[in-house]
Amino acid sequence: MRIVRAKDYQDMSRKAANIISAQVILNPEAKLGLATGTTPIGAYDQLARWNAKGDCDFAHVQTFNLDEYRGLSHDDPQSYHYFMRDKFFNHINIDLANTHVPDGSNLDAEAACYEYDALVKGVGYVDLQLLGIGNNGHIGFNEPDDHFSKGTHCVDLTESTIKANSRLFEREEDVPRQAYTMGVQTIMMARSILVVANGPKKAQAVYDMIYGPVTPSCPASILQLHTNCTVVADEEALALCPQE
Ligand code: PGA
Repeated sequence: MRIVRAKDYQDMSRKAANIISAQVILNPEAKLGLATGTTPIGAYDQLARWNAKGDCDFAHVQTFNLDEYRGLSHDDPQSYHYFMRDKFFNHINIDLANTHVPDGSNLDAEAACYEYDALVKGVGYVDLQLLGIGNNGHIGFNEPDDHFSKGTHCVDLTESTIKANSRLFEREEDVPRQAYTMGVQTIMMARSILVVANGPKKAQAVYDMIYGPVTPSCPASILQLHTNCTVVADEEALALCPQE
């Protein structure tokens, strides 16, 4: 794993955006795996600014998001479909037909997950997968478990994730209890991986991801086995990690 130390959130966002834009400049038809959550928003803002300046062209880029809540329509302001348009797609020159997010509005979990998995597999997996990390070490909605998941599947969210995500909802009861997520195997098939993390709440998970044993009780720890994984994190998120 390559560790890139950033001073703060802004620095982390700029460094992460640099890696993503390099991918797009090298391959204008790049397939990007994208993530929701508060961490990547700064990188999306930076990419949108470069796009407006003409420095990073998304016209032929395809995107595949990690996950979506089960049971929310695409226009629900809490859905990840909405989040991605609001925070990124509406601000860049991407063709919305080239953007893909698991279909949370399809309550048939098996069909929705099968379809999404076939889609990602069908394009030969993504060139670059952007990931946030949960306080509990989850990636996508792959929660701590006794085994690593494989393809896209439906998960019951853990109490800690429901609590963490409730800050984005009016009431904790409003947080959906299930989600569709790419599996760990699907994530590991990406040709390169970029993890972003900031703030003291992520320090333990970031330490476990980089230095802990590879175990499904910290799903992000499997990234140690990926041959091209970069972690861009700020000082607070790296606080428990030795300075190398
Ligand atoms: P966050 O979420 O960016 O909102 O902290 C990250 C995650 O849970 O994967």
